[in-house]
Amino acid sequence: MELADSELLRTSAYIDGAWADAHDGATFAVYDPATGVEVAQVANLGEKETQVAIEAANTALDDWRSRSAKERGAILHRWAELIRDHADDLATILSAEQGKPHREARGEIVYGTSFVDWFAEEAKRAYGETIPSPVADRRNIVVKQPIGVCVGITPWNFPSSMITRKVGPALAAGCTMVLKPAEQTPLSALALAELAERAGVPPGVFSVVTTDADGAPAVGRELTGNPLVRKLSFTGSTEVGKLLMAQCAAGVKKVSLELGGSAPYIVFDDADLDAAVGGLLGCKFRNAGQTCVSADRILVQDAVYDEFVERLTDAVSGLTPGPATGKADLGPLIDEQGLDKVRRHVEDAVSRGAKVIVGGSQPELGGTFFSPTVLTEVPRDALIMHEETFGPVAGLVRFRDEDDAVSIANDTSYGLAAYFFSRDVGRVWRMFERLEFGMVNANVGGMGNEAAPFGGVKESGIGREGSKYGLEEWLEIKSLTLGGLDD
Ligand code: SIN
Repeated sequence: MELADSELLRTSAYIDGAWADAHDGATFAVYDPATGVEVAQVANLGEKETQVAIEAANTALDDWRSRSAKERGAILHRWAELIRDHADDLATILSAEQGKPHREARGEIVYGTSFVDWFAEEAKRAYGETIPSPVADRRNIVVKQPIGVCVGITPWNFPSSMITRKVGPALAAGCTMVLKPAEQTPLSALALAELAERAGVPPGVFSVVTTDADGAPAVGRELTGNPLVRKLSFTGSTEVGKLLMAQCAAGVKKVSLELGGSAPYIVFDDADLDAAVGGLLGCKFRNAGQTCVSADRILVQDAVYDEFVERLTDAVSGLTPGPATGKADLGPLIDEQGLDKVRRHVEDAVSRGAKVIVGGSQPELGGTFFSPTVLTEVPRDALIMHEETFGPVAGLVRFRDEDDAVSIANDTSYGLAAYFFSRDVGRVWRMFERLEFGMVNANVGGMGNEAAPFGGVKESGIGREGSKYGLEEWLEIKSLTLGGLDD
C-alpha cells in the first residue's frame, strides 16, 4: 500500500497514548476483500488489555471533562484538519481493508470529518436551563455533564465515519472513549488514533482496542460489563445490538444503538422518474449495497412500473464492479458470508417468481464481487422483503395506491430509513407522518450529514447521531436545587 505518510499504517492497538501489542504477542490478519491478499497483521487483544484501556480512560476523565468545551473543541478541530490533510492516505487504507472504490472512500473521510468539526462547535452549546421553582425561596437549575467513560463498537461498512460520528461528540462532550473497530477494518481506526495523538488528544482520552472475530465476544463483555463504563454506542446488526444491550442492562449503562434496516423506496405515479432512478443508484449501489440505510424494498406504483424498470435497467447496466484502485462504481462484498447472503436472497426471490433483469450472479472478477442486479415482480413474502440484503440487489415490487404502499413499507420490525418520490404536496406530508421510520426522505435517495439527526425506531435502534441531538447522547442531565434564598 503506497502512502504519502507511512506512519498512518499502524498495526498495534492504541492504549493510554501508546501503541500496544497483545500481552501474548498474538496478531490477526486483515485482508483486501477485492483480492483476498493479506494487507496487515494487527494486534489481537483480549479482555485484560481492554480492561487496561478502560482504566486509562477513567484516569484521563477528570482532566478532560474539566477543560472548557472551547479547549476540547480546538483539539477536535485540529484532529479534523489533520484528517482532511491526510484524506488520500486514509482513503487508501480504507479501500485496502474494506474494498470500496477510492473515490467513495475519500467521500467517506470527508463525511466523517464533518462530524468532528460539527461537534467541536456543538459542545459549546451544551446549554442548561433555569426552571421557575414552585417554592419561593428556591431556584431550580439544570446542567448537562459528560456521562463519563464510554465505549464504542463500530462496523466494517463505514470504517472511518462511524468512528468520528461517535468519538467526535463523545470527546466534545467531555467523555473519554475506548473503541473497538470491526475485525475486518481495524486499520482506519488506528490511523485515526495516530492523527488524534498528533492533534493533541491526551493519553487515555481515546483508545483503540483491536481484536479478531474469536476475541470479540470477550472484549465485548469487558466493554459492556466493566463497572467504570457508563455508556455504549454501537453500530451494527440488530442481532448483536440486542445482545450488547442485554449485557449493558446488568450495569444499567446508557446505550445508543444504530442497527439494521430494511428501507422502503417508494415511487409514486406522479414522481420525477429520473430523480427516482438517480436517487436509487446512490441509495442502493453505494458501498455495493452494504449500508443499513440502503433501499431494500423498491415499491413502484402500477402506472409507472414498466417505465421505471426500463430506466433503471439502463442505468444499472452501466455500473461496473471492480477493485478500488480502478474506475469501478462499486467494490466487492466484505466476505464470503456476505456473498452467500446476497446469493441466497436472489435465489429465494427467483424461486418465488421474481425475474432477473440485470445481473443476478457474480461477474467474471469472481472473489466476493456480485453484479449490480435488478429483480422485478418480487413477491411480498420473499426474503429480500424482510431481511437486510447488504448487497447490490434492487428488488422491485408493484403497489396499487398510497394505503397499499404504506402497509407494505411499515410491514417490518425495522424502522431506520424510508424514501419516497412524489410531487403531490398533500401526499408528501401524509407519507412523512405515516411511515414508521426514524428518517423519512422525500424526493432524495440519501440524507446523511452532520447537521441532521441519524437513527432509527423499532428494532433499528435507540438514540441519534449527528446534529444537536447527537451531543445529548453523551451528556447527563443534572438537576440542581438552590435553597435558603430568603434573608
Ligand atoms: C450505515 O450504514 O451504518 C451508515 C450509513 C450512513 O451514515 O450513511
